Amino acid sequence: MTKLIVGNWKMNGLKADARLRLGEIVTPVSADIDVAYSIVLCPPATLLGYVRQALDDLYICGEATISVGAQDCHAESHGAFTGDIAPRMLTDMGCTHVIVGHSERRHGHGETDAQVAAKAQAAHQAGLITIICLGETESERTAGHHFDVVSRQIKGSLPSGVTPANTVVAYEPVWAIGTGKTATADDVREMHAHIRQQCGEGMTILYGGSVKPGNAAEILSTPNVDGVLVGGASLVAADFVAIARAASGG
Ligand code: PGA
Repeated sequence: MTKLIVGNWKMNGLKADARLRLGEIVTPVSADIDVAYSIVLCPPATLLGYVRQALDDLYICGEATISVGAQDCHAESHGAFTGDIAPRMLTDMGCTHVIVGHSERRHGHGETDAQVAAKAQAAHQAGLITIICLGETESERTAGHHFDVVSRQIKGSLPSGVTPANTVVAYEPVWAIGTGKTATADDVREMHAHIRQQCGEGMTILYGGSVKPGNAAEILSTPNVDGVLVGGASLVAADFVAIARAASGG
């Protein structure tokens, strides 16, 4: 099955960096025949239109698809929401995907499960595929509550109308994001089986949290891991390409 490799650039990069990085991603990816992966790049909002256009200009051939996704959206379709971006504005810029409920939004901006569900619902109505993030904190895991936390987030953050066609679920243990600590293969296997049980066979389930070229092959070959959500390593083109290629066993 084709693995989904998502690069979350977070709040990093200007046009010049993006252009350079895209060139370094597109060239090797275009050369891959019979690719075992598809790619979604999630640059900051300021670069969404630029990245889409640059990809269209750069892309030469090959089977791999490179889609563009946003890192967040608002739950309303328009109105007096200074600084926010509506889902339809994202499709207008060529986005097909949007991340919602990333832990940096949940914890840094106090977003609740209900707000995440409302954003996801609005995104679906605009025709976007949502990448809905879930994951426990370190103290929740230490206390042994990780399965309950993730079950609660699934129940609360996935709106009605979720289907495998409009939703991707990303398990990102908060303690593994940007820390260099990766969940063990057993942690990932157990939690992904738990999510699979609740979200069903067809759902794409990603793992995220300190994914690097050195651990990507093991993570991607774990049962119920349908792809990865990559933060820090997605800013280094060679690392990101190596992670994608790990989907086909290197
Ligand atoms: P990381 O981030 O790969 O830098 O740990 C992952 C994410 O936050 O999506």
